[in-house]
Amino acid sequence: MKSLITGAAGFIGSHLTEALLARDHEVIALDCFTEYYDPGRKRDNVRRFAHDPRVEFRDLDLAVAPPTLLTALLEECEYVFHLAGQPGVRASWGDDFQIYLERNVWATQRLLEAARGLPLRKFVMASSSSVYGDAERYPTTEHDVPTPISPYGVSKLAAERLGLAYWRCFGVPVVALRYFTVYGPRQRPDMAFTKFIGAIMADQPVSVYGDGRQTRDFTFVSDAVEATISAATHEVVGEALNVGGGSRVSVLEVLHTLRGILERPVAIEWQPAPAGDVRNTGADLTRSRVALDYQPQVSLAEGLRAQAAWWIETAAAFGAPVGSR
Ligand code: UGA
Repeated sequence: MKSLITGAAGFIGSHLTEALLARDHEVIALDCFTEYYDPGRKRDNVRRFAHDPRVEFRDLDLAVAPPTLLTALLEECEYVFHLAGQPGVRASWGDDFQIYLERNVWATQRLLEAARGLPLRKFVMASSSSVYGDAERYPTTEHDVPTPISPYGVSKLAAERLGLAYWRCFGVPVVALRYFTVYGPRQRPDMAFTKFIGAIMADQPVSVYGDGRQTRDFTFVSDAVEATISAATHEVVGEALNVGGGSRVSVLEVLHTLRGILERPVAIEWQPAPAGDVRNTGADLTRSRVALDYQPQVSLAEGLRAQAAWWIETAAAFGAPVGSR
């Protein structure tokens, strides 16, 4: 089996690449090391698998790559996992929206166009819980009307809808996965848990947005990866599916758990809630349970311990300060 993974150097993409290699897939791994966060971290992720003879790594930007090259790469593969994109809910306002359009919408459309007419078994693409905005109910089902409140969420919804249009009109076997705030080792440095652990370990206050009582259905990365592989191997096609962690937890509860794990005090610097941040997310997993046999396995405490252990192991390599306590 051969898979093409876009965004293979990123947080979820690098875990997925390793998981597919563990299942003895060959992998064409694409990434273009955008500067949304330190590309050095991504190169470090790639070093974990780059020397595996089953991996062909390519530094390729989907927004500009020649269509013939994209088609040639897809022709070699049975499965596509399209995880590349511009992340970040809070950074997507203003002129930067053009980057979100290019990397989330335009790049996705070009990859889908290249996939037209090919005998792919599955085209799995990363969507986001942010498509729901402030949802009409919790837990939120895939049938609830998406009403994103950030430009990022709008771009992810557009990408997801494009994928489903290519399924409907050209038979590209698309499944879109709405990941809910994924965390764990290698989490992006702009995301809450990596920032929180870094600040606590440096004896600095953590920035909490709003009143800290907002909730997220935090999802451990290995659970997200399992759902992603199941989306490729199960019969399901032409749908968007929720991939959540199984419970809603507030930011303040997370900090309470982290204080216990790190055995350090937690000082809070309160910040206004940023525009685009939804109040709550919560995944109804009924459909994913049936379609993907999906059942999240990793509890928040367990997952936070794994992320803290990773942070401590790698902090020195990225020059992160560790406090004296
Ligand atoms: C995350 C990812 O960043 C998006 O790429 C992804 O698409 C999205 O999940 C999703 O599920 O759709 P977010 O939920 O904002 O977005 O993830 P975090 O940055 O980890 O924030 C989690 C919570 O912590 C939010 O409620 C946020 O308000 C809060 N937070 C974050 C803080 O209080 N302080 C911070 O410094 C950072």
